[in-house]
Amino acid sequence: GTGPLVDAFNRRISYLRLSVTDRCDLRCTYCMPEKMQFLPRKDVLTLEELHKLALGMMQRGITKIRLTGGEPLVRRDMIDLVRALGRHVGGALEELTLTTNGTRLAEFADDLASAGIRRVNVSLDTLDPDVFAALSRRDRLESVLEGIAAAREAGLRVKLNTVALKGINEDMIPQMIGWAHGEGHDLTLIEVMPLGDVEDDRVDHYLPLTAVRERLEQRFTLTPSAASTGGPARYFDIEETGGRLGLISPLTNNFCSGCNRIRVTATGQLYACLGGAEKVDLRAALRSDTPDDALAAALDEAMRIKPEKHHFRIDERGAAPAQPRHMSMTGG
Ligand code: GTP
Ligand code: 5AD
Ligand code: SF4
Repeated sequence: GTGPLVDAFNRRISYLRLSVTDRCDLRCTYCMPEKMQFLPRKDVLTLEELHKLALGMMQRGITKIRLTGGEPLVRRDMIDLVRALGRHVGGALEELTLTTNGTRLAEFADDLASAGIRRVNVSLDTLDPDVFAALSRRDRLESVLEGIAAAREAGLRVKLNTVALKGINEDMIPQMIGWAHGEGHDLTLIEVMPLGDVEDDRVDHYLPLTAVRERLEQRFTLTPSAASTGGPARYFDIEETGGRLGLISPLTNNFCSGCNRIRVTATGQLYACLGGAEKVDLRAALRSDTPDDALAAALDEAMRIKPEKHHFRIDERGAAPAQPRHMSMTGG
């Protein structure tokens, strides 16, 4: 086909999450094992392939691209890709953006802003350096905070992402909201999802956001906000802080009926859902004799196979079998 991407459930797909690397300089315990096996570099799409893929998608009505990882800023030619895609911002692209762990943001914030990025999502699970070091297995909180400050100085809007974890950061959540809002950043809480094997048992740290919300409402006044990024987050305005809180609750509040997104791994596998195995091989299409036709056919196939919803489950009875892919493969 050549037209806009619409799946079998009549959802219009306009948002691409494009992972540029599965590598990361942190090792968050809920995300990956310490000895994570990364992909051989030859399997990863080249800059040219990523660009071609993105162009093909824009022709099919993708208007928003979020670059993800692993950690996108550990890829060496990342800024070249951002510059190439940034030329389409204001044209085919309404938004080009990035999800990062922030460790290298101080170095790249200016380049990102001048290439056309307007806002970034930065992962931050705690403001305590020791908890950060234990959780990410790397002592890097200071560079992340420097990165967040640099992003603001570069004129980038920042949304913070905090995975809510029982016994790890649950008592710090109000403090983190206060800090983020004081700095002028939105903050979104995320339920931990069963993606890939890790050493920890995620069930031990699973914290349903329904419970977090109840506790927050004892301290803060939350009013549902009209704001939406078309994503899974539900937003609330907090009267006391004047800031915005997002909740991403795949386990306690399914949002799949409004899904507008597809995701592509660093090796060019298009996964139709974060929580499913349905995929098409875009790298094979790109490397075929007729890449344009092959890419178009692969995208049509993706629309046929996109499942209605994910089947994640974590609760007191345990987790549904972890999906084999880690978040760092699919980019979240
Ligand atoms: P915007 O809506 O573009 O601001 O971004 P986002 O909050 O969707 O993206 P971000 O990369 O900051 O991801 C935050 C969290 O949401 C991560 O844990 C993602 O894995 C999760 N997430 C994003 N999209 C989906 C989705 O379609 N399904 C599920 N289950 N989780 C998602
Ligand atoms: N469940 C929920 N969120 C996760 N992230 C990484 N792994 C998981 C998981 N298994 C988060 C990161 C980052 C975002 C992109 O995804 O902390 O904020
Ligand atoms: Fe890296 Fe993000 Fe996974 Fe942490 S959650 S190890 S920062 S990819």
